[in-house]
Amino acid sequence: DGVTIIDHPLVQHKLSLMRKKETSTASFRRLLREISTLLCYEVTRDLKITHETIETPMCEMQAPLLEGKKLVFASILRAGNGLLEGMLDLVPAARVAHVGLYRNEETLEPVEYYFKAPESMADRLTIVVDPMLATANSAILAVERLKQQGASNMRFLCLLAAPDGLERFTKAHPDVPVFTASIDSHLDENGYIVPGLGDAGDRMYG
Ligand code: PRP
Repeated sequence: DGVTIIDHPLVQHKLSLMRKKETSTASFRRLLREISTLLCYEVTRDLKITHETIETPMCEMQAPLLEGKKLVFASILRAGNGLLEGMLDLVPAARVAHVGLYRNEETLEPVEYYFKAPESMADRLTIVVDPMLATANSAILAVERLKQQGASNMRFLCLLAAPDGLERFTKAHPDVPVFTASIDSHLDENGYIVPGLGDAGDRMYG
């Protein structure tokens, strides 16, 4: 139904370490970077390949290579950048879009403060990254803005999703599959994911 849970044991183990309240900023960052390479591996698992003639030191061969235009990674600032870094470790040629949003902590409505996307989004796969899908207001707005910019083939990648947010997101953007490492229990009255891991941006940047 458009939602994939990435249940790889390494992902689940690292996520549990990130959830622990005693995990330091340094460890949290390192874990986030590690886990993002694993998530990237899974979210790109079905990318199309094409065959091209290359020459090894031994002979010519038809070698598989990624088909089509370079990917776009769209990071929802700030916390998205924690996922972005590890993704770029695996796909260093990806183009990057930055969508700056913060949540008004009273209304839980996202406020845009920055938007910069590559010129040609139309025929590129765009992977939108943010560790948390809580109410999904941020993700819904970010995807809308990227669609306005021409993106038509998108996936949303997060670490933790709340059930309500997931439902709201897939209703708003049924064409955008979601990949997450976990669907948590619920949102508390302040819009935090429970059990969650706290505020990802604060745990990374203070
Ligand atoms: C957090 C998180 C998501 C958003 C999720 O960001 O990183 O972007 O909230 O909430 P939502 O699904 O209810 O919109 P925050 O606004 O705290 O900004 P930050 O990443 O800069 O810390």
